[in-house]
Amino acid sequence: MTVHKVIFDTDPGVDDAMALLFLHLSPQIDLVGVVTTFGNGTIDQTTRNALYLVDRFKMNVPVARGAGKPLVGEPMDPPDFVHGQNALGNVAIPESFEGKADPRPAYRFIIDTVRAAPGEITIVAVGRMTNLALALREAPDIVPLVKQIVVMGGAFGISGVLGNVTPAGEANILGDPEAADEIAAASWPITFVGLDVTQQTLMPTEYLSALAKDGGEAGQFIWEVSRFYEAFHQAGGVPSIFVHDSSAVAYLLQPDLFETRTGAVRVSTEGITRGMTVQKPDTTSYIPGPWDGRPSHRVCTTVDSEGLRRLYRDTVVNAA
Ligand code: BDR
Ligand code: CA
Repeated sequence: MTVHKVIFDTDPGVDDAMALLFLHLSPQIDLVGVVTTFGNGTIDQTTRNALYLVDRFKMNVPVARGAGKPLVGEPMDPPDFVHGQNALGNVAIPESFEGKADPRPAYRFIIDTVRAAPGEITIVAVGRMTNLALALREAPDIVPLVKQIVVMGGAFGISGVLGNVTPAGEANILGDPEAADEIAAASWPITFVGLDVTQQTLMPTEYLSALAKDGGEAGQFIWEVSRFYEAFHQAGGVPSIFVHDSSAVAYLLQPDLFETRTGAVRVSTEGITRGMTVQKPDTTSYIPGPWDGRPSHRVCTTVDSEGLRRLYRDTVVNAA
């Protein structure tokens, strides 16, 4: 069995919390660190949430606080209408709990951890790409040392899928498009798990209530934390929750659940298309343009949703 050493770069966040439990409970994952970013909450909130989750579920991993704002400009307001006031679906969390953040900022934690285990570290990035871009700026030598990066982010127009914050921009990419474009310029292997596939997979209410029954403390928490998030989806006409961040974890664990396309990826940083992700498939040829000379990355184009739900459920239930 392959065991993946993972740094989880996250903005918890309801679906981030669900993905963190997925990583923690999978026997195929050795979680070596959690780094936080602003996004679903402020950096204070997401870091506090990460520390809480790590403590409550006894993950015994360092948490390094990350960027509080994008490379350029100021952060967008946290989407409390999606993830709740506390970014954990308004599930009450204690005033105080054990654990404090690693003294290093997230980008430094990433650099140190990758250098200490060359070729072994996978980074699963499910928030803004700011920490990764800062690590890359500070230490470009880590590029060949990273095993792979799995990004939840982007909307590549497969089957007409648009952004979820603007028609062009998906939240993680629109939240820091400069960072996303910089990391896609580097030749470390990146797989983008975008809305094209994450919106194909839903976890129905009955699926989540079955997890609450069969999945022990984690299953019960997944149920509780997803109530507000589910209500947001339903208010928008989606029957239950989309599976965003856990799809990135599923890609790592079982890549054959997905089909992918390779090619250079650019992120628009201008005007009304700001945050738009556009891949030039390797199989195509165009006039000279901004994709030329950029490394090829994978973009997910299809997903076996049933298989993904099975993998998530089995992971949670088998650990209970
Ligand atoms: C992404 O944005 C956040 O709200 C989610 O946690 C996910 O990472 C989906 O666009
Ligand atoms: Ca997220």
